[in-house]
Parts: sequence; structure tokens; C-alpha cells
Amino acid sequence: MLTRRFSFTGQTSMRPLKIAPSILSADFARLGEDVRAVMDAGGDWVHVDVMDGHFVPNISFGPAVMKSIRHITPKPFDVHLMISPVDPYLDAFAEGGADIITVHAEAGPHLHRTLQAIRRLGKKAGVSLNPGTHESVLEYVLDDVDLILVMTVNPGFGGQSFIRSGLEKIARINAMIGDRQIDLEVDGGVTAHNVGEIVSAGANALVAGSAVFKGGAQEYAKNIAAIRKAAESARGERV
Ligand code: DX5
Ligand code: ZN
Repeated sequence: MLTRRFSFTGQTSMRPLKIAPSILSADFARLGEDVRAVMDAGGDWVHVDVMDGHFVPNISFGPAVMKSIRHITPKPFDVHLMISPVDPYLDAFAEGGADIITVHAEAGPHLHRTLQAIRRLGKKAGVSLNPGTHESVLEYVLDDVDLILVMTVNPGFGGQSFIRSGLEKIARINAMIGDRQIDLEVDGGVTAHNVGEIVSAGANALVAGSAVFKGGAQEYAKNIAAIRKAAESARGERV
């Protein structure tokens, strides 16, 4: 088991901290109200998990549902597409109000083409890596991405345990990014307890489902504040 702990390097201070509640953990029967509640409680980005039952073993929702809640908040929609193929659906998510569209490196044979297509739609382009995928796949697309999403669970479900080998990967990708303006996002099993290490490894954008939505709407602000506080203290922004 990897026990190495990561200390803050200062390299992430350029990139602002973003907390992205995953609405996969929201109450789908009252999705709009729940999205409003979680964003009013301090979420920075709405993390939208789209699953197709093919690339991942679960089905969530598509662009029409996303579009129906777009008016709820002016905050960015951070759309995580766990679908394959992905290219035929980019237009619909752009039109539905996505700000960042993230695709999986494993989801298709033409990653570079897909990223170009996203940028041509006027959206920020993201790439996500499953836990078993090496970061070398990013090497030739670093200048074509605005966000890199490191999965620290196997995608498909909320509420799974954080895979610690992701910390090493975050640190390596942080070094690869260098001075580029690329957000480094982490998704899967993120909690107030492990966020210090995640941020210290170099991540600046934190997706959290269960850790934000636990306890119901009256707890959202407290849950987000706990994550933010732990992250800010790891970044040296709090004493
Ligand atoms: C997993 C999704 C995640 C998930 C996170 O496939 O991409 O965004 O909802 O949920 P937690 O924070 O509960 O692991
Ligand atoms: Zn996600």
C-alpha cells in the first residue's frame, strides 16, 4: 500500500481552488431544487456525471436533463462524459449549456480530434483518466486541454473508496502541466479527510458527491465548508 504523504509544493497556488459537487448524489426527484441548494451552499462548479451503461456499468442522464437545470445557476457546468462513443454527443452537451466538457482518454481512438471538436464548440476541453490509465496518454495533448480529471475510483458509481495510487498520479501530472493554464481535477472518494493530501499532490479542483450531499440539504453548507477548509489549509491559505 502506498503510504507516502504529499507536502505542498506551491505549484498549485496559481490555479484557484474549485469545489464541484457531483449531482449524481442529488435527489433526482427534485433535481433542480437540490442543485440550487448545493450551489447556494457554496459549490463552485456543478459536476454533471453522464453515464451510458456501456463505457461504465451504470446509466445516469443525458443532455436534455442537464439542459433542464441549466437555468438554476450561472455557475459553470463541469460535464464529465463517461460515454463511448462521445463525438456524436458533443454538440448536444454544448448546446445544453456545458462550460467544460471532459471526455475519457479510454473512450475513443481519436482523443486529439475530440478535444479539438470541443474547443471548436467554444467550450473548455477536459480529459479524464481511469485509475488504471497511465498519465503518458496526456503527453501529446497537453496544449489542447483546459482541464485534466484524475479518477480516484473506477467510474460508474458514487460512494466508492478513494484509490490512493491516484495521489502519485496527480503529482506526476501536476509536474507535466508546469506553467500551463490547466485545471487539475480529482473525482472519486474525495472527503474532508483526504482532501489535504489531494491538494498537496497538486489538484485544485475537487469533485465530491457523497461527502457533499450526506445528511441532506441542511448539511450541504457545512459539508462544503469542511472540504474547503481542509483544502485551503493544505494550500497554505489558512492557518
Ligand atoms: C463516479 C463519478 C463521480 C462520483 C463521485 O463515476 O464520476 O463524480 O459521483 O462520487 P463520490 O464523491 O461519492 O465518490
Ligand atoms: Zn464525475
